[in-house]
Amino acid sequence: MEYRKLGRSGLKISAVSLGSWLTFGRIEDSVAKDLMATAYEAGINFFDNAEVYMAGQSEIVMGKILKELNFGRDTYCVSSKVFWGGDKPTQLGLSRKHIMEACHAALKRLQVEYLDLYFCHRPDPETPMQEIVRSMNILIEQGKVFYWGTSEWSGEQLDEAFTVSEQLGLIPPTMEQPQYNMFHRYKMETEFSHLFKEKGLGTTIWSPLASGVLTGKYFDDEVPSDSRFANQANKTFRERGIESESGKQNLIKAKKLKTIADELDITLAQFALAWCLKNHNVSTVILGASKQYQLEENIKSLAHVVKLDEEVLSKVEKILAA
Ligand SMILES: NC(=O)c1ccc[n+]([C@@H]2O[C@H](COP(=O)([O-])OP(=O)(O)OC[C@H]3O[C@@H](n4cnc5c(N)ncnc54)[C@H](OP(=O)(O)O)[C@@H]3O)[C@@H](O)[C@H]2O)c1
Repeated sequence: MEYRKLGRSGLKISAVSLGSWLTFGRIEDSVAKDLMATAYEAGINFFDNAEVYMAGQSEIVMGKILKELNFGRDTYCVSSKVFWGGDKPTQLGLSRKHIMEACHAALKRLQVEYLDLYFCHRPDPETPMQEIVRSMNILIEQGKVFYWGTSEWSGEQLDEAFTVSEQLGLIPPTMEQPQYNMFHRYKMETEFSHLFKEKGLGTTIWSPLASGVLTGKYFDDEVPSDSRFANQANKTFRERGIESESGKQNLIKAKKLKTIADELDITLAQFALAWCLKNHNVSTVILGASKQYQLEENIKSLAHVVKLDEEVLSKVEKILAA
């Protein structure tokens, strides 16, 4: 396993990690347990979660598995994210009340004493930045959270968080969790450039395979019945992913990308993940897997990063630009 520093912090995080969105709480708990055991054995030391995943069930399942597998608490990191805790106004957003209560609830569900990483799952323009930054700092001072960060914030919102932290002498965000994959690049490659250079922002990137589009599993007309897009609850994601005009264009590009992966003798999934890992501003690529073979295949992407030389990367650029 390769380990990278989480931004400018001292924390060394595995270059690939394991997430639980649309999987934990939906797949059999025994499969989730095998996935975590395989991940940990391979050296993965970060497991990603959020209060909203399966309305808290994902954290309950992960907490149970962490207890059963009994990994040393000082050998792994676990996260949660706050924003969507329920339907009531007090259960939503980033007010001090919700940040505090959501953290306490996540600790209970995960059965841990502290969260290593805690994310503001989306920006909340209705809560003053001071309130958000201070709330996260209180949790850090209380030892309930070690590193705080954001997810899907804009560069401008992060700038404000850094300015407020500096003005108040508080700990700024350590990491952001943006979507990053071959089809979704602007924040990681352009908008956040100054934050990487000047602030040392770390990143834990999500949907590196564009929800599976970059594996080739949706090349046939029929959506595989055991895939996330076959689930009626994920209709919106499916429409965006493969049925919209841009989704269809992405499938055409993915088919062309597969020819390069074939030439390199690796799978399209490994190719797409290795491409994410090439970006040194990525602290960790969060893998999503609902089956054991997927995780095993995807972890191997680390060994293939070296195959992505300048020539290969420029072929990718031509396909993506078309
Ligand atoms: N902060 C945020 O807003 C946010 C948003 C989304 C995700 N996340 C985090 O990022 C993690 C990863 O996101 P993601 O699950 O969307 O990642 P992804 O890698 O884009 O998609 C994972 C899915 O792709 C399919 N897949 C993966 N490897 C495969 C392989 N080798 N062969 C065939 N199919 C394969 C599986 O789909 P099937 O299950 O359909 O087989 C798997 O569930 C999440 O678990 C979560 O922790 C964060």
